[in-house]
Amino acid sequence: MTSPESAVYPAPPEYNIFKKKIQELTAIDLDAYKPQIHRRIHQLMQRWGMKNYDEYYKVIALNPDKLREFLDYLTINVTEFFRNAEKWWELKDKIIPQMYRELGHQRIRLWSAACSTGEEPYSLAILAAECHVAAAQPVLAVDIDNGVLAKAVEGIYAKRSIINAPKEWIVKYFTEVDADTVKVKKELKDKVKFKHLDLIKDHFESGFDIILCRNVVIYFGAETKAMLYKKFLTALRPGGYLMTGATEQIFDYKNLGFEAAGPFLYRRPK
Ligand SMILES: C[S@@+](CC[C@H](N)C(=O)[O-])C[C@H]1O[C@@H](n2cnc3c(N)ncnc32)[C@H](O)[C@@H]1O
Repeated sequence: MTSPESAVYPAPPEYNIFKKKIQELTAIDLDAYKPQIHRRIHQLMQRWGMKNYDEYYKVIALNPDKLREFLDYLTINVTEFFRNAEKWWELKDKIIPQMYRELGHQRIRLWSAACSTGEEPYSLAILAAECHVAAAQPVLAVDIDNGVLAKAVEGIYAKRSIINAPKEWIVKYFTEVDADTVKVKKELKDKVKFKHLDLIKDHFESGFDIILCRNVVIYFGAETKAMLYKKFLTALRPGGYLMTGATEQIFDYKNLGFEAAGPFLYRRPK
């Protein structure tokens, strides 16, 4: 059946060539994303006044700033520290303490899958420190986009991005750069390991206690999503949790092998 999206945006042969070239350039497979991604690409092409995909590709390939703009537009890297704060306080007050009780030790393994510019994994590392978790390994933080990973490693942020953080944590984990900017302290940086990884294609490590995968699958098609959630299930230790974004309910969680553990929270059965 033809979806309204594909009716409005039939993929001309040039678009297929464009997709192939983008994959060679960035390793992003646009076919794994929802058809709406074609509309976004097309919108940007129009905004830039490009006549055809060939011209569009050349601008992206030859100009690093345009490549950055294209990726930012496509993957929407928007994020902040303790995004949807109530979910973070649930982790701090309920999930992590419950894990202590069950595991009988304070070593938990954390993963921020699709970490963008680093606010999420740094938030996880702060939470672990505040819960007195002696992490056996640093928080794993991965993303497909090397540009956002470079910013994450740099660890410099606008003050508005830490608006959800309690004041004492800001003093403890950040230094002021200027009136609008802060920098993550080295002690916090050392608690996060950033790595390039494509969630769709690459192999996952395993044994995680908590995986955060938030605000990324909204761009993926249904099959890609199901495949990804199965990979997360295997990457969790029995009893481990997967937290999704505030609009990313997994309707068929049971078929995928999860138990429900709260809104946007799923658990691998023990
Ligand atoms: C909106 S950000 C989410 C950041 C953070 N998780 C949050 O919720 O605030 C989406 C991120 O997903 C990343 N992304 C998109 N496709 C990906 C893939 N196949 N593998 C890994 N990361 C991907 C993008 O590069 C982008 O940084």
